[in-house]
Amino acid sequence: MANRMIYFTLGLYLVICCYTHNVMAYDADPLQDFCVADKQNTVKVNGFVCKDPMNVSAEDFFFAGLAKPGNTTNKVGSNVTAANVMQIPGLNTMGISLVRIDYAVGGINPPHTHPRATEVLFLMEGTLFVGFIDTANKFFSKTLEKGDVFVFPKALVHFQQNVGKENAVAIAGLSSQLPGVQTIANTLFAANPPIPDSVLSIAFRITQKLVDLIKAKFA
Ligand SMILES: *[C@@H]1O[C@H](CO)[C@@H](O)[C@H](O)[C@H]1NC(C)=O
Ligand SMILES: *[C@@H]1O[C@H](CO)[C@@H](O)[C@H](O)[C@H]1NC(C)=O
Ligand SMILES: *[C@@H]1O[C@H](CO)[C@@H](O)[C@H](O)[C@H]1NC(C)=O
Repeated sequence: MANRMIYFTLGLYLVICCYTHNVMAYDADPLQDFCVADKQNTVKVNGFVCKDPMNVSAEDFFFAGLAKPGNTTNKVGSNVTAANVMQIPGLNTMGISLVRIDYAVGGINPPHTHPRATEVLFLMEGTLFVGFIDTANKFFSKTLEKGDVFVFPKALVHFQQNVGKENAVAIAGLSSQLPGVQTIANTLFAANPPIPDSVLSIAFRITQKLVDLIKAKFA
């Protein structure tokens, strides 16, 4: 009898624990129709405090900033234009956002991760070689043509490269109002203050001199 009680309690605990874990793994669900971000408010919460609903207008849900291509004349030949809660206050608590990504010929969106979002990318123009790496270090890759869709699972390292003969442009939806991004090379070689050479040289099995050389490229 006592045993049965223990199993029941354990089972209940597992169900509650896993269910709660799933819910907590994504942006919180809204508890009202909307909670337009009040960016001026000094109160800090997970996300932004809600604006007075009486003061909310259609402008809070609108953004024209994805109409134009981003400038791809830079070191990587790509440009990500964000449409998240920082640009659209109405996305606060909605668990969703967009980006527009422009790629010059040969340009890459370098390996990076979004700690808070799964990404679903729709290729509007061009040809992209895309891929992600799972936690078992398996590499999943694909060449996309105009109109194709590809998924980058939440938090996994991924990238895109324009392998076509013309500029490429993609739109991607992300499952967070503010997905966050860590670009692996920058994270490791351009951290501020810097990660010690002694750490990076062992991690990459290269000399500290070579570490300095790579760091200098991000300066
Ligand atoms: C509504 O917006 C106006 C103009 O931004 C501001 O002056 C006013 O304090 C706001 N009212 C409330 C209740 O937030
Ligand atoms: C992306 O494009 C915008 C608009 O053209 C530009 O202001 C910005 O500097 C570009 N970013 C990078 C990293 O090149
Ligand atoms: C794009 O960025 C480059 C480098 O910063 C700059 O020289 C060029 O004028 C920019 N192009 C446009 C259309 O803004």
